[in-house]
Amino acid sequence: MRNTHANTTIAGHFGHVNHHFAIAEDITVSSPTGRIVVNLRTNGAGIPRYRIDFNGKAVIRDSQLGLEYRELPNMTEGVSIRELARSSADNEWQQPWGERRDVRDHYNELLIALERTALPAQQLNLRFRVFNDGVGFRYEMPAQGDLGAVDVVGELTEFGFVDQRDVTALYIRGEDRDRYETLYESVPYEAIHTAATPITFKRPDGIVVSLHEAALVDWAGYTLISHSNPKTLRTRLAPWSDGTAVKTAVPFKSSWRTVQIADSDVGLLNSDLILNLNEPNKLGDVSWFKPGKYTGIWWEMHRQEYTWGASDKHGATNERVKGRIDFAADYGFDGVLVEGWNVGWDGDWWSNGGVDFSFTETYPDFDMPMLSTYAAERGVRIIGHHETSGNVALYNATLDEALDYYTKYDVNLIKTGYVAWSKGLRRLDDKGFPRYEWHDGQWAAQEYIRVVLEAAERKISINTHESIKDTGLRRTYPNWVSRESARGMEYSSVGAADGVNPPDHDLNLVFTRMLSGPMDYTPGIFDLTYRDLETPARVKSTLAHQLALYVVLYSPIQMVPDYREHYERYPDAFQFVLDVPTDWEESIALDGAIGDYVVYARQERDSKDWYVGAISGNNAHDTKLSLNFLEQGASYTAQIYRDGEKAHWENTPFDYIVETREVTSADTLNLRLAAGGGFAIRLHEH
Ligand code: NOJ
Repeated sequence: MRNTHANTTIAGHFGHVNHHFAIAEDITVSSPTGRIVVNLRTNGAGIPRYRIDFNGKAVIRDSQLGLEYRELPNMTEGVSIRELARSSADNEWQQPWGERRDVRDHYNELLIALERTALPAQQLNLRFRVFNDGVGFRYEMPAQGDLGAVDVVGELTEFGFVDQRDVTALYIRGEDRDRYETLYESVPYEAIHTAATPITFKRPDGIVVSLHEAALVDWAGYTLISHSNPKTLRTRLAPWSDGTAVKTAVPFKSSWRTVQIADSDVGLLNSDLILNLNEPNKLGDVSWFKPGKYTGIWWEMHRQEYTWGASDKHGATNERVKGRIDFAADYGFDGVLVEGWNVGWDGDWWSNGGVDFSFTETYPDFDMPMLSTYAAERGVRIIGHHETSGNVALYNATLDEALDYYTKYDVNLIKTGYVAWSKGLRRLDDKGFPRYEWHDGQWAAQEYIRVVLEAAERKISINTHESIKDTGLRRTYPNWVSRESARGMEYSSVGAADGVNPPDHDLNLVFTRMLSGPMDYTPGIFDLTYRDLETPARVKSTLAHQLALYVVLYSPIQMVPDYREHYERYPDAFQFVLDVPTDWEESIALDGAIGDYVVYARQERDSKDWYVGAISGNNAHDTKLSLNFLEQGASYTAQIYRDGEKAHWENTPFDYIVETREVTSADTLNLRLAAGGGFAIRLHEH
């Protein structure tokens, strides 16, 4: 544990109002090493603005701050700025599970007040935390006068880029019909219209910046929209169905707006800023959650060979679930997910909240008591599934019985689903009228957390699909173990109607979505082509790439989704899936470039063994892997799973090589990644 010191100076006097225009005086706060500097000021019209410099260069140019309210005057002009308090911290904290055990939280903090210079008096505070890897800031409205309820109707935070003609962005569109499940685009900054976060920017001088948010608890998620000239990106909060962005009361605080900055692409990947801006664990001992691997009744539906609903091809039959349990038990996987076990799948279940799923009534060919006993006898647990089809009103009303049902059968991990178009989550208002809400609005943010907390009461963990964006809440609620919030493997399946994931999709996830937290991507498809190489809907990667994904795309739960016989076709490659853990002592993004490739090394928890995973995008790439992260003087057996000489995702995806070498930390491996390729290495210490 490092020294912790938090010293507060210049205590503020909340409620004080300065009735004169402030002189545009700058207030600055810098990161502990001084490489990031935030500058705050108001301009001549009293508009609050901030700027961020990195290594002496302006990265975010003077950009506006502010909130808009329904009843109160906006904090957008005629505002003066006053410093309230400064503090610093340098703490180390532990993750109960994660991509690393120890996390360093090291920052300088500044609290400032924005004060309206005209009556009625009003104060809004801004808290800035400046780390060596970026900046977080949030709005905090303190109690003042007799102010109670506040309706926020908009937020005016802007991010203006410097040298923007040469900045490129990697991102997905915002407010898309399919939520966050769209394909990444790499475009000049100038071409962005709307963007979901995390969005990652690269400047010609190599500086990379990623915008996102942290600790989205009681606020609305934001989309970035193109604004003004020169262009800025402005936050647009996902509103309630009645148009209000955030319904709150003083004192309140927004989620943190985050700006991660690094001088190399992989520098971004090694940042813990999002986690550090979240509150510490509120659940206490969560050792009841065990990271691990699972299989399940799932891929067969996405391959369109079986159905969720009742049919002569029903997936979740006793016989098939037993088959998956046997598969898990024989190979040492912890759980078996079962989808399509409950009544409700027979209609149009993917449409907005139109379906009434039962969370306790099974289909007749699925015998829960028998199967949970069978699973227990074989040392495996059933993993639950609650698809809501966006009917959150119903799920909300039946949550207790839904969770109690699973508790009875010893289910301690549930995958939840909110399949519905954007703004399709069904809520009942005070009068009982249905309203439809965004997946990332304030109401949804609270609903997702409510489920996580109710589940925690029963020592159940949650893996959310069609989830709100990840903002690092796993630190506060460590039973929220994984989520989707992007296009996963299912978009490489037969059922992917509008085109499968391209070969660079996984790599793009690494530099965007994965910055926000774990993803239940479900890697490890071995039957890559389903029928043959000509099949249009297929997995566009090599087999070695599939292995590497277990290391590259972090999640404490990883699925082994394909059929037993497909894995048993390649037993030597399958060995890596069996060996790779899902909980890590340390993780290092070693090397990589946006759009080209990435190499990750992760050390298994409570072990000296390391695992390395690397993937490429559309093109082949030669890598040089220095093993200097290994313990000096120790010897390791490297089991290497790599693309064969002729491997290519398109025509030769099954060309792979498994080989073994003795290595030490002094060695360097030269390994080639094919187009859509990868390598995976187990480094076993002996
Ligand atoms: C979409 C989810 O992402 C997928 O994993 C699941 O199988 C279906 N919905 C059904 O719930």
